[in-house]
Amino acid sequence: MEPEERPTIALGVTGGIACYKAVELVRLLVKEGFAVQVVMTREAMEFVTPLTFQTLSGRPVATETFSLTQESEIGHIRVADEAKLFVIAPATANIIGKIAAGIADDLLTTVLMATRAPVLIAPSMNVHMYEHPILQDNIRKLKGLGYHFMEPAEGYLACGYEGKGRLPEPEDIVEEIRRRLKKKDLIDEKLLITAGPNQEPLDPVRFISNRSSGKMGYALARIGLRRGAQVTLISGPTALPPPPGVCLVRATTAAEMREAVLQEFPQATAVLMAAAVADYHPEQPIGRKLKRAAGPIVLKLKPNPDILRELGARKNGRILIGFAAETEELVANARKKLREKNLDLIVANDVTQEGSGFESDTNVATLLDRRGTVRSLPLMSKEDLAERIFDYLLMLRAESSQ
Ligand code: PMT
Repeated sequence: MEPEERPTIALGVTGGIACYKAVELVRLLVKEGFAVQVVMTREAMEFVTPLTFQTLSGRPVATETFSLTQESEIGHIRVADEAKLFVIAPATANIIGKIAAGIADDLLTTVLMATRAPVLIAPSMNVHMYEHPILQDNIRKLKGLGYHFMEPAEGYLACGYEGKGRLPEPEDIVEEIRRRLKKKDLIDEKLLITAGPNQEPLDPVRFISNRSSGKMGYALARIGLRRGAQVTLISGPTALPPPPGVCLVRATTAAEMREAVLQEFPQATAVLMAAAVADYHPEQPIGRKLKRAAGPIVLKLKPNPDILRELGARKNGRILIGFAAETEELVANARKKLREKNLDLIVANDVTQEGSGFESDTNVATLLDRRGTVRSLPLMSKEDLAERIFDYLLMLRAESSQ
């Protein structure tokens, strides 16, 4: 992106120990392609120097209202006008109180009063301060006026207490920023997404599974949320953190996943089945740990129900999107699944290809739709593929409503 095309995030930094996390936040935002204009309060400068932020953002840091040099270099009204989003992280009880009371007695509060950009506030303070009724009143008031808040995280606080008050991790703040800036074209959708593998127990310590990491399904959930959808994510066992804002349901076996999917299905407007659902389970799981024996053992496997096929038989206006993990005859096999499961779209990935399918951060997919269109996509990140799948979903939705 050319420097002048980069959307600007104004980042207000106020005086709390979590200022050090704001440094990482600036680094991540710049890496994401944002221009970052940092505005610091006097108290924030007690914790971190403006030079640190200036070096990372590549822009002079705004700190003083009445500095002629700063006014000509930065211009406080320009900061207010050019911001696509105003983020305050960390936000102290003091800044929240000042905004709620309409006080504009320093540069940050003045610019905040002048901006028309949406404001996202990430509080960080001692748990008792956070729970204080005055602060909670101020938050309620500001929410009523359209200010957005991130919930503080829970855990060990720098003041020695445990509880709610930690600044959310910089990665989570970046995710919230992406979500706030994204076009909300999925606002009418209630998405039911499945992700990850199943584990089918053999005995209390062993199971049959597959190599799905959950990355594809979690990428769909993240992008769906950013584009304004309500997302229920039914996830097999994975090591991934749930995207903020998702309704997460965990399911270990295919039978548990089926039950959860059938329970959520009536509320959904579209279903995306990225999970690598186990096709079989051991016929007789053993109640105690299987002992090692001298000879071979034979496992008898029973087929699991095909969840997507069941949904296809009762879709009733919902858009159904399946995935196909193939090692041969990609298009022919995927087309067969599209037809047999009564899908609107199937995302076929040739899992033998480098960078495609299981575990990787990227995928190479071919999209086949209900009208017979076949579209091969190049290698891209799973998030980019999720964007393309949702663009397709909107196209199919528009067609169905004609
Ligand atoms: O999780 P990652 O590591 O990111 O990997 C992503 C992925 C490779 C798992 C994903 O891109 C993918 O291809 N998911 C589907 C894998 C799969 O199970 O494909 P399938 O061809 O066996 O099944 C076809 C469709 O039917 C899938 O949407 C599947 O969820 C569904 N199915 C399958 C079996 C079954 N018993 N019930 C089902 O609903």
